[in-house]
Amino acid sequence: MYGRSGSGFLTSLSDLLGTRRPALGTIFPGVELSGHERMSYHTTFRVGGPVACMARPRTEDALAALLKATRERDVRCIVLGGGSNVLAPDEALDALILKLTLCSTGIHPCENAHRSSGRVYVGAGVRNAEFIRFCLRNGYDGMDFLVGIPGTIGGALVMNAGTREGCMADSLLWVELLDTEGRRQRMARSELSPLYRSMGFSKEWIVLGAGFQLRPSSNRSSRGRLAEIMKQRKNTQPLGWPSAGCIFKNPPGHSAGALIDKAGLKGFHIGDAAVSEKHANFIINRGKAGAREILALMRLIEERVREKFGIRLEREIQVL
Ligand code: EPU
Repeated sequence: MYGRSGSGFLTSLSDLLGTRRPALGTIFPGVELSGHERMSYHTTFRVGGPVACMARPRTEDALAALLKATRERDVRCIVLGGGSNVLAPDEALDALILKLTLCSTGIHPCENAHRSSGRVYVGAGVRNAEFIRFCLRNGYDGMDFLVGIPGTIGGALVMNAGTREGCMADSLLWVELLDTEGRRQRMARSELSPLYRSMGFSKEWIVLGAGFQLRPSSNRSSRGRLAEIMKQRKNTQPLGWPSAGCIFKNPPGHSAGALIDKAGLKGFHIGDAAVSEKHANFIINRGKAGAREILALMRLIEERVREKFGIRLEREIQVL
């Protein structure tokens, strides 16, 4: 995410989106633009008001050109993966939301790599579930932890998404990104300093994809393991409800879910935003919750846990 607001540019862009749609193709060729889409359709919390502009570049060159234009005008740009780890505001969002689901979508063996080497390139716009299906079809192992985690590979990379079974950094070889100047760069895993829930990327980089080292596996053993992980997840997490997954990071040596639970907050709710009865580190949207109720609940949880245990919870989700 970068830029301040560049609202003049955004306002004229959204005016154009409202009135002169056909002219847009000539302004940013290769980019699908739309105005006033609601963030609630693009986030797993099902929360968020209209956004000034949503852009889906069809190619990475079109993406680079669009980024150059937005940077020159200091427009606030937010890359949205699967919308599974964000809380969007109820009010209108004065920003340009970028979706890479049309331009960075490939999964293929890395260049000069034989299929049997297990070295695979995955685009940032690929859905996690699609990558898991690819691994199953092609007999690769190493990404099991991703099963049931919604979102895209780009989002999972930025977050260094993971579970106790593993995380994105474990099998990463390199990432491909657009730097602040819009240049394509490749960074080796050794140049990165991944942490728990962060790959340590600059906020200004746009991740295009990554190379992974996978292991060969028998299809049957993979399927069994994935089913086991999914069963465990369904038993312990409220997967049927709109949520953003775990809200807080686990503090060193503690489980955020256990702390919130011990603070007596399971089931506590503000409006339709409720602490899940199944897993206390999940806030679920029971119907009409907005960002306002969810944020209020997050603040209350932070306060209670600090009062009771002297521990400051760190947010895992991104509040836009
Ligand atoms: N616990 C409670 N009460 C609760 C929830 C958990 O007492 O309401 C206890 C559990 O009984 C267990 C401990 O806390 O003893 C840890 O709970 P769990 O096994 O559910 O794992 P977690 O640390 O809460 C992490 C990830 C999840 C991931 C699971 C499964 C974080 C913040 N969360 O949860 O990731 O799915 O492990 O591997 O690291 C996410 O990041 O969005 C996410 C859901």
